Amino acid sequence: MEINDKNPVEKDELTGDKLLSGHEYDNIRELDNRLPKWWVWLFIITIIYAVIYLFVFDVIKIAPHQETEYTNEMAAAGSAAPSPQAMVFDTTMMPLADQAALDAGKAIWDKNCIVCHKALGQGLVGPNLTDNFAIHGCRYFDLLTVIANGVPEKGMISWKTQLTKDQILQVTSFTMTLKGTNPPDPKAPQGDPCK
Ligand code: HEC
Repeated sequence: MEINDKNPVEKDELTGDKLLSGHEYDNIRELDNRLPKWWVWLFIITIIYAVIYLFVFDVIKIAPHQETEYTNEMAAAGSAAPSPQAMVFDTTMMPLADQAALDAGKAIWDKNCIVCHKALGQGLVGPNLTDNFAIHGCRYFDLLTVIANGVPEKGMISWKTQLTKDQILQVTSFTMTLKGTNPPDPKAPQGDPCK
């Protein structure tokens, strides 16, 4: 409604505040107050924020969208985690011989294996791995298979869900170096003599 001399700004009788014209429902009228400053500022800030957001994420693209971030992190986690499906070994594989791989293997051994096989492999809950006997075979491939798949019913853990394929190759190569080391206090031989 146009405001002029005939139709002056209407004021609230009690407070004298400006009334909004044309807004009357069930005798309830709205005041035409100014928006609070804090509210207006908040509104302006959201607009500024939206512009910065658009610029950063969609124009110069210096920050990834959360979807991209999610896919990236999933990919990173996927490549770091062991993938048991890909844990295929073949009989022609040879133990890793380079020192870095054997050192890495020893670190994995120290962390995961000595509770059952003892620090020098002389055997405790698990068999002695330094003698010339084995329950599951003496070849590198046999060890890889046992270490990857475990013998759960006998207490040997399946490592393929906890170690990567490379880590299994490393720790198995290290385990091979224990053969014939004659550590003190060995556990009695188990299994069949190696040929
Ligand atoms: C919770 C105890 C436990 C842990 C931890 C463990 N083992 Fe074993 N391991 C055993 C037992 C028990 C056996 C014997 C399984 C059987 O009788 O068939 C065994 C068997 C083996 C064998 C086969 C020995 C044979 O005579 O054929 C190898 C090799 C071996 N473990 C290596 C490892 C390596 C490497 C690790 C660490 C990554 C490891 N184990 C961690 C308990 C363990």
